[in-house]
Amino acid sequence: MELREAMRTTPATRAFTDDDVSDEVLYDILEHARFAPNGGNRQGWHVIVVRDPDTKARIGELYDLGFREYAGYHRAGLVPFAAEDDGKPPKIDLAEARTVALPNEPSHIWTAPVLLVILLDTSAISSVDSGLGRVPVTAGGSAFPLANNILLAARDVGLGGHVTSVLAREEPALRRLLHIPDHFILGTMIPLGKPVKQITKLRRAAVETFTTVGTFDGPAFMPPAS
Ligand SMILES: Cc1cc2nc3c(=O)[nH]c(=O)nc-3n(C[C@H](O)[C@H](O)[C@H](O)COP(=O)(O)O)c2cc1C
Repeated sequence: MELREAMRTTPATRAFTDDDVSDEVLYDILEHARFAPNGGNRQGWHVIVVRDPDTKARIGELYDLGFREYAGYHRAGLVPFAAEDDGKPPKIDLAEARTVALPNEPSHIWTAPVLLVILLDTSAISSVDSGLGRVPVTAGGSAFPLANNILLAARDVGLGGHVTSVLAREEPALRRLLHIPDHFILGTMIPLGKPVKQITKLRRAAVETFTTVGTFDGPAFMPPAS
């Protein structure tokens, strides 16, 4: 698939057919994705390939719990886990939120043929912007380019999946389940499979709505006149 087309047409896929993803195909996806940029090129990532049905089911349960907290913020009309909550008590009762079942349970997590759990080695990645009194973002930058490369490579062979974050809410339990050492943290987890329906039209804002010239309050960066 042509690169620009892949960039514009790789959606979050949350419904998979029963088709398997072979080790051969999965290896090939990772073989291309590994060229992702990452901090200092230390490649402080570790990927766990999860196929065992019981393990996927348990990860699905943990994911569901994390998603219930996320949904609780939504019900309250708030941006889930917005940065302004950092270091402060949550604005909703998370324990209560966990008791409310999701309207659509995320069954694609436990029915996906394969889950890729992407970890980061805290002794190898740089978190350059930690301690600045705001949410650090640099560390995740050593996981998400790899994750996006995985999605692009998957799209190229007719597969799909999506980046996830809510599983992080249950990281201690995930750590025990997958024998994750203390100095590794969850970057993201990707369920991967063959899409039931290939979505190719993505809704995104135009460049000029989020790009300015010179300064933040500079003029919008407009498309060149044709
Ligand atoms: C950092 C990050 C975290 C995300 N976490 C989740 C998640 O926990 N669960 C989920 O279903 N989708 C998650 N997504 C997927 C987004 O919802 C998706 O990329 C976005 O809605 C755009 O979807 P589209 O490409 O299909 O338009 C995450 C995406 C990113 C980049």
